[in-house]
Amino acid sequence: MIGKLNHVAIAVPDLAAAARTYREVLGAQVSQPLPQPAHGVTVVFVQLDNTKIELLHPLGDASPIRAFLDKNPSGGMHHVCYEVADILAARDRLKAAGARVLGDGEPKIGAHDKPVLFLHPKDFDGTLVELEQQ
Ligand code: CO
Repeated sequence: MIGKLNHVAIAVPDLAAAARTYREVLGAQVSQPLPQPAHGVTVVFVQLDNTKIELLHPLGDASPIRAFLDKNPSGGMHHVCYEVADILAARDRLKAAGARVLGDGEPKIGAHDKPVLFLHPKDFDGTLVELEQQ
């Protein structure tokens, strides 16, 4: 059911420092910081040949990653995002299998303007999973 790995999201306490690490130490292609007020984050995209890394920093008081950074002050992996062809079919299959879909279970428009859902980390080995319809 799941297809390609779309991205791995890493919450970082210092976006400029994290971008510099990826650019200069790891030698990756790194975007400028892109504020996404609707999602409460500023993002730096790290483009790899086969996927991307998203460096996330809180934007605004209601940022969804604020609590994560409070618990993990040096940053950490926040979620992985898998592509699916049909997000409603994926949701129904997951729910039938007993997995918990976060929120009201209806897909939201995510940071890439595509429908997304998040799955409870306790059902996936402690990892928050995002599904994005392609
Ligand atoms: Co994501």
